[in-house]
Amino acid sequence: MYTSGTTLSTFIIEEKRRLGEQATGEFTGLLNDISIACKSIAALVNKGALAGVLGVAGSENAMGDAQKKMDLIANDLFINALQNNGHCAGMASEELDEILTLPEGKVRGSYLVTFDPLDGSSNMDINIDVGAIFSVLKAPKGKQDPTAEDFSRAGVEQIAAGYCLYGPSTMFVLTTGNGVNGFTLDTTIGEFILTHPEMKVPETTQEFAINASNQRHWEPAVQRYFADCLAGEEGPLAKNYNMRWVAAMVGEVHRILCRGGVFLYPIDERNRDAGGKLRLLYEGNPMAMIMEQAGGLASTGYGRIMEVAPNGDPHQRVAVIMGSKQEVETILAYHDAG
Ligand code: F6P
Repeated sequence: MYTSGTTLSTFIIEEKRRLGEQATGEFTGLLNDISIACKSIAALVNKGALAGVLGVAGSENAMGDAQKKMDLIANDLFINALQNNGHCAGMASEELDEILTLPEGKVRGSYLVTFDPLDGSSNMDINIDVGAIFSVLKAPKGKQDPTAEDFSRAGVEQIAAGYCLYGPSTMFVLTTGNGVNGFTLDTTIGEFILTHPEMKVPETTQEFAINASNQRHWEPAVQRYFADCLAGEEGPLAKNYNMRWVAAMVGEVHRILCRGGVFLYPIDERNRDAGGKLRLLYEGNPMAMIMEQAGGLASTGYGRIMEVAPNGDPHQRVAVIMGSKQEVETILAYHDAG
């Protein structure tokens, strides 16, 4: 139905029409704003040292992470793209302590957007993959400005989610709740073109991604699963596994969408009270929606990520176990066993 020359904007308009949904153009406009932020970030990421965007900014975000120059630039590019066109009513970003409402005089739109403007930013200075992650929620009706409470919604309420991977090519991967589609940036014409229609996560896998340097802190269930992976064909899982770690969640999720696998950032004894390490609103939920829409699973080990009750903190953390359906089910069985 879509040709190989289908642009992101055409795709979104056509998808609405195909589903018989009323379209005012605002949602298409919002996704276009996000894609423009991503293209602007891609241009700088690709220039790297030539654009003077490597290195640290000398500041910290709300979670105490040292901010890179490019974290702040990417954050500004998202804000600029979202606050000027009347599609968005408020934002929550990894790089902002509080939620952001629009300046006086700007038209408030119907959507809220949460984002991690530069996921895996420690990869920036070594010229390895980084990305952006975003999630779209409906803004509350009849309210001038949203509050933190309005962002405090379970992942099942997302109406769209996606990421942009700044890798050897720049890819924009999107779900609006009807499957997952991938678009590659054609830099000669400045458009994202549909290249990966209806992406599906293979159900089975022999590949896992986990930061094994944290092993001693994991819960027994993850310890046992990991040991059984390492035991290979002779062990209880009877498979020889491969391991990968990009250290940027966007890279891990994209690899899993392309060839299967599991990605774990599980609870460990240091982050148990916080609920995990990764952030629920702009990492866990959007990636869980992508994963489920592509036929995979996304769990904390104890329940669906998208059903985790939000606690009102835009920077709430969550444990993440996501990827190929059968492998995630295997890991959940280890959790069920205690
Ligand atoms: O946002 C956090 C993040 O950079 C993820 O993108 C990535 O998966 C993870 O942290 C890397 O963690 P670590 O520093 O343990 O390798």
